[in-house]
Amino acid sequence: MITDISTLLLNKPIILAPMDGYTNIPFRLIIKEMNPDLMFTEFVNSDAVINENKKTLSKIRILNEERPVAIQIFGHRPENMAIAAKIIEEIGPELIDINFGCPAPKVSGHGSGSALLKDLPLVSKICESVVNAVKTPVSAKTRLGWDNSNINILQTAKIFEESGIKFMTLHPRTKVQKFNGKSDWNYIKKVKEQISIPLIGNGDICSPEDALNMFLQTNCDGIMIGREAVKNPWIFKQIKDFLRTGSYTKEIPFDERKRLCLKHFDLSMEYLGEVKGLLEMRKLYQNYFKAIPNLKSFKQKVFCCSNPPEIRDLILNFEDNSE
Ligand SMILES: Cc1cc2nc3c(=O)[nH]c(=O)nc-3n(C[C@H](O)[C@H](O)[C@H](O)COP(=O)(O)O)c2cc1C
Repeated sequence: MITDISTLLLNKPIILAPMDGYTNIPFRLIIKEMNPDLMFTEFVNSDAVINENKKTLSKIRILNEERPVAIQIFGHRPENMAIAAKIIEEIGPELIDINFGCPAPKVSGHGSGSALLKDLPLVSKICESVVNAVKTPVSAKTRLGWDNSNINILQTAKIFEESGIKFMTLHPRTKVQKFNGKSDWNYIKKVKEQISIPLIGNGDICSPEDALNMFLQTNCDGIMIGREAVKNPWIFKQIKDFLRTGSYTKEIPFDERKRLCLKHFDLSMEYLGEVKGLLEMRKLYQNYFKAIPNLKSFKQKVFCCSNPPEIRDLILNFEDNSE
């Protein structure tokens, strides 16, 4: 069933952030178990979508059971962004998002992502081209500006509002800041006071208490979680429990961590294949089994092995050797 984005926004959604190299199908299916309100794919280059790049298209494949899903594009040519959005519309996401925040050289170095914050007329053209090209709702995700001397988030937000963007997400750091320092939630509050489209707050939400504080301090319309979802996939459930009842399960039992890790492993084999799946899982064991004393020797054994059934057994037989 297609979820209406306007209805979703009325209910203060808790959203999985787009994360290149992480928010693939297996990861999203794991997070889906935790009941997020919306999930983002990894971003894709609009030109690569148009060129039908195989790897790019595999990143924006979506399954019915993970809906509602947003697909995020980046680029800097309004016409191409519009064509890519039309192609993506055929895939049928509930939302198409435009990236105006990525600081990575592979994106901003080519005039896309956060580089666009130096050229707000181009931001406006991109938004209008994409919004006019598709019936699917379009959102935008951005940062404060290029650097501390060029914080132009209020102007950017006004452009989003005027060009038919349905809602915006703000990660309140500058491009130059990358991930350093703290995100400045005061800007989320300031922007919220100035615009009429819904605003999703993002940045440094690491616990249910942070989630509540983000809502209370900024009056934002929803929140988006990135890095903490990788470290702790249960965060979505924990936040929802906390906001509803005032309490939540803080320590996830070892057996539950093992169950979810095994599920993630199986999904990675199924959707990414052996080679990529095993590599992707290597990034994740430490999150599933953090603070377990014999994690290091477990990782050594797993990293030495390339046989999926044997690795599965290693996970299955892994024991918590703390007291
Ligand atoms: C590994 C990684 C990949 C990311 N990829 C994207 C991306 O594809 N698109 C995007 O808009 N933001 C991307 N981000 C930024 C996150 O969506 C989010 O804005 C940022 O991590 C701040 O939120 P957090 O403090 O909850 O992690 C990425 C962040 C990380 C750590």
